[in-house]
Amino acid sequence: MAKGRLEQYLTDLSRGLERARLTANQDLLLKARPTRSYSMRQCARYLNVSYQYLTKFAAQTAGFPPGQAKGRERVFNTRELMTIRMLMAIHAKRPRDYLAWRAPLDPLPVISFASQKGGTAKSLSAAHFAQYLSLNFGMRVGLMDADPQHTLTLYFAGGEEGVGLPDPGTPTMVDFAGLYPNGDLPYTENNGETLDSFFQPTGWPGMRIVPAHSETSEGEIQIARLLRANPPGKRFYRYLRDAIDIWSAAHPPRTEPGDFRASAGTGQGGPLDLERVQDALTETLDVIIIDYQPALTLFQLNNVIASSSLVIPQTMKGFDLATLATFTNGLLGMLQHILAHDRIEIGAGEHMLLPTIVQRSNAQDIAQLTMLMENCPGEILPVFYLRSDAIANAADVYQSAYEYEPETRGRRKGMDRFVDNADAVGDAIAARLWPHLARGHADAWMEAIYAAEDDDNREAAE
Ligand SMILES: Nc1ncnc2c1ncn2[C@@H]1O[C@H](COP(=O)(O)OP(=O)(O)OP(=O)(O)O)[C@@H](O)[C@H]1O
Ligand SMILES: [Mg+2]
Repeated sequence: MAKGRLEQYLTDLSRGLERARLTANQDLLLKARPTRSYSMRQCARYLNVSYQYLTKFAAQTAGFPPGQAKGRERVFNTRELMTIRMLMAIHAKRPRDYLAWRAPLDPLPVISFASQKGGTAKSLSAAHFAQYLSLNFGMRVGLMDADPQHTLTLYFAGGEEGVGLPDPGTPTMVDFAGLYPNGDLPYTENNGETLDSFFQPTGWPGMRIVPAHSETSEGEIQIARLLRANPPGKRFYRYLRDAIDIWSAAHPPRTEPGDFRASAGTGQGGPLDLERVQDALTETLDVIIIDYQPALTLFQLNNVIASSSLVIPQTMKGFDLATLATFTNGLLGMLQHILAHDRIEIGAGEHMLLPTIVQRSNAQDIAQLTMLMENCPGEILPVFYLRSDAIANAADVYQSAYEYEPETRGRRKGMDRFVDNADAVGDAIAARLWPHLARGHADAWMEAIYAAEDDDNREAAE
């Protein structure tokens, strides 16, 4: 049968786009990733020690990375920062102060950045939170991209060690969940090793990603197909949850954070046994972060059922709160339907709403934010993401604020401001999930915001 007109049109458009995209993506892949290096002062902040302590430690410790000279400063990349962290851990009384790694019996938190609305900074917030946890606590973060648009994947693809851009054959969450994207294969339970192979390396030490591409949308179709042929006892909302449980049981934390000291003197890694370091970075994950597609589908429902915590990024414009209510009620309905038939614990951790892209000069934004804070004080985070031109520029080339290096002084200021904002949001989320990891960035940021507001009000009154 000849192709219908829409089918033909989509086929032609798809071919053209593929050619256009290949050219556009070359640039992205050539770049080293992550590009940024951090000064000794910034490293001290991430390590939560004083600058004096760090410089002294650097001078006294064999194997301390040399870094690179930049002007009068020494700067360190993310791998070197991880090495410094590990050196501090092997010398420390409490190694977890430097590497907040999961203990063998700790559960694996699964944190979802979810909302039904598009463009609410889900992907950007997920990427920044993952990097915040890596930079500040040395956590081994597992990323999962649940969006066929694969924004999160683009934030981590490329670079020497990192994964390339996924092609249609690259395994995605659909494979991870055992939902085969092609043909009539039945559901197959993957073992822990196979599941682990679906995580691809990124340029960030200890951070791995199950990437997405357009085929990820097949997950939905496969669930519908398997609904009829479900293996006995298998529920349509448990594909991802069961897969994560299998992976997790096969990959428990084994290495203690101080446990990679080289036995005999100084090899290439100085006092660090580099092989054990590499094993420790890949043996398990301390947290999984999932970035959602803007939709409430059966596939996304599987993600919710697999999650211990939801972070809901939400913009504050016109009808946004109505969309949020639709999402909340839709999800609640689905959960109640499941809980009526199945006594499982869903979402045992903390959940929170994160206001995003807030424009301080926009009265409507502020009015909606204020209303939300008054009516849902326990459900909403006290910090929010401000609208920023600097991050919009970085997002254009799929870099986070922790990576992007602006060229001019003026732009650097805007980016520094956004980094402070990202640190505040990261701190607020982390403090809800792991209260002992609070760093005070959220409080400091809010104080600064309210001080600036008082200034504005005073100026307006004068
Ligand atoms: N704080 C901000 N200031 C200005 N622009 C922002 C900010 N946060 C996000 N953006 C812009 O909004 C757009 C959407 O961001 P992002 O991709 O993170 O949202 P999303 O919710 O994941 O979108 P989608 O629903 O398509 O998955 C991006 O182009 C980004 O540049
Ligand atoms: Mg997104």
